[in-house]
Amino acid sequence: MRVAALEQQDLAVAALEPAAAGAPELAVVVPTLNERANVPLVVERLNRVLAGIAWEAIFVDDDSPDGTADAVREIAAEQTNIRCLQRLGRRGLSSACIEGILASAAPFVAVMDGDLQHDEALLPRMLERIKTEHLDVVVASRHVGDGSVGNFAASRVKISDFATKLSRIVVKAELSDPMSGFFVIRRTAFNGAMRRLSGQGFKILLDLFASTPRPFAFAEVPLHFRERLHGESKLDTLVAWEYLMLLLQKLLGPAVPVRFLLFSLIGGLGVVVHLTTLWTVLHAAHAEFAVAQATATLVAMTFNFLLNNLFTYRDRRLRGWRLLTGLGSFYAVCGLGAAANVGVASYIAGGHSWWLAGLAGAAVSAVWNYAMSSIFTWSTPRPAAPKATIAKG
Ligand code: GDD
Ligand code: MN
Repeated sequence: MRVAALEQQDLAVAALEPAAAGAPELAVVVPTLNERANVPLVVERLNRVLAGIAWEAIFVDDDSPDGTADAVREIAAEQTNIRCLQRLGRRGLSSACIEGILASAAPFVAVMDGDLQHDEALLPRMLERIKTEHLDVVVASRHVGDGSVGNFAASRVKISDFATKLSRIVVKAELSDPMSGFFVIRRTAFNGAMRRLSGQGFKILLDLFASTPRPFAFAEVPLHFRERLHGESKLDTLVAWEYLMLLLQKLLGPAVPVRFLLFSLIGGLGVVVHLTTLWTVLHAAHAEFAVAQATATLVAMTFNFLLNNLFTYRDRRLRGWRLLTGLGSFYAVCGLGAAANVGVASYIAGGHSWWLAGLAGAAVSAVWNYAMSSIFTWSTPRPAAPKATIAKG
């Protein structure tokens, strides 16, 4: 009762107050990973080009070891339209952008890199166009008008072109640069797509276009991709792999997780490896069946572990010492999975055909192995221990 009364009072007060004059119209979401040196420069440039617009910037930092988040907060302490969203134990460009967008109430949101490679001077025109032309998205494209890719290596240009062609499988829109990470989106358009986003990998724009229930009305403006001055690119082979996973996920729909599909495919290969090893050990080494079967099981599990580590969990890849402990936990998980497999299959075999029982057992162990190894073997990385800081009184 009291709560309800208080709420009513609050509402009454809110109704009397005019909308805050400075409520931002544009939020600039800037994902960062080790961009400490770039942060003050980005803010300085935004201050310059966005003068006259009510804006805010949200830096979404994945706990960069170089202290990027602290650099943002230092500025935020003096400039109230700058905010830092620091994520612990998380990684990912797309998911960082999504969370940054969700952390703001602005009706228009720009997503822009934090390394000065995106030309912030385009922002006012992009905002103007999305508003006056009633668009959902305005994309800064390297492949339209006099846009350019800057000094990308020829090999990267080729890969990027190929990736753009591939994207046509899931995105019907004639986007000249679906790989762009620089765009302005209308919040209502984002809201329509947000629950269908995959959130994986690097390509948030592509994800948005592939997830929207109705086609976006969009325009493109030419972008000269600038050179990086400080820090280094985070693009590596993982990005390409994640990109393919994203495309596949969009093709399959949300019902079938790509990871589970890969895990099961590799499991299927594991069966082939198992039988081949079994045959070899039986016939070439003339071992006893139990010995041969045990050897084949170990070989197949190791094979599955290595392949899953390389592909299914490329983003959480175990290396060095953790490769060994991971292998140990994978053996344990699969051992229990095998027990569940035999248990379920034997139970079903009582009343049904042998192949149905066999399949059911295999399905149970596949789900078990997948679920348990994602928790125990390839758990998401724990946040790095923070550097000791002494609280100032
Ligand atoms: N929070 C967070 N988490 N930020 C990240 C992460 C991450 O895991 N990975 C990269 N970033 C930040 C970087 O700090 C930078 O501000 C921005 O995302 C882009 O990363 P870069 O490593 O500089 O990417 P790039 O220059 O190679 O890629 C650019 O070109 C692509 C087109 O080929 C970017 O503009 C991409 O957005 C774009 O898709
Ligand atoms: Mn960059």
